[in-house]
Amino acid sequence: MSGPVISLGGSIFSKTDEKHLLDFIGRMRKEEGYALVVGGGPIARDEISILRKMGAKEYYLDMMGIQATRLNATMVSLALGNLMEVPKSIDEAVRQMNLNKRVIMGGTEPGHTTDAVTLLLAEALNRDTVVNVTNVDYLYDRDPKVKGAKKIERISYSSAIKMIASEKRGAGENFPLDILSINIARRSNIKIKMVSFRDTSNAFNAIEGRKFRGTTVS
Ligand code: UTP
Repeated sequence: MSGPVISLGGSIFSKTDEKHLLDFIGRMRKEEGYALVVGGGPIARDEISILRKMGAKEYYLDMMGIQATRLNATMVSLALGNLMEVPKSIDEAVRQMNLNKRVIMGGTEPGHTTDAVTLLLAEALNRDTVVNVTNVDYLYDRDPKVKGAKKIERISYSSAIKMIASEKRGAGENFPLDILSINIARRSNIKIKMVSFRDTSNAFNAIEGRKFRGTTVS
């Protein structure tokens, strides 16, 4: 199979978004082969925030976040009847993919997010597209809460990098995309499609290569 690598943003695991998670899983069951990377969401944020108060360093906060992503990935795996263990590295994920035609994983190492894992997995599997199923419907030209913020339908890698460059990130912070991911996408010419998890059919339009509402970074 040659579909996109899918990134499922951890925020879909919020209590209030349970319906969207169930819808997403219901649709995923119809897919034959897939590569899915699952984010940490509220569990990651909560655990990181408590551990930060305990004085742990960023590296260990990232380790905590990775465990949360793997917990969520385990849930998705079990829901989809996938009995393979959640792979801990891209290499392991590629081996599972070759064996089973599907793989579900979370994070790998400290220092990045599951968005970067998604792009690295796409490189390793030689895929030309990733679909980022996330909690925003589009990338906006400024904070979407600010009046006058405009939706971006298409943006180049370099413009997206410039836009995000001024932001500062730390473990567990919430970004629609990070610079590392865009850099990996750019070096291998991988298209990033961003869609909201709140509209399951639109998300699967993007996943299955149909017209969709969302942002394309290319
Ligand atoms: P996420 O990928 O969920 O990050 O990983 P995020 O950007 O905070 O959330 P989304 O994109 O909305 O889902 C949660 C945390 O786990 C650590 C980082 O601290 C990250 O913020 N992490 C995750 C890593 O250190 N390495 C990884 O490979 C993945």
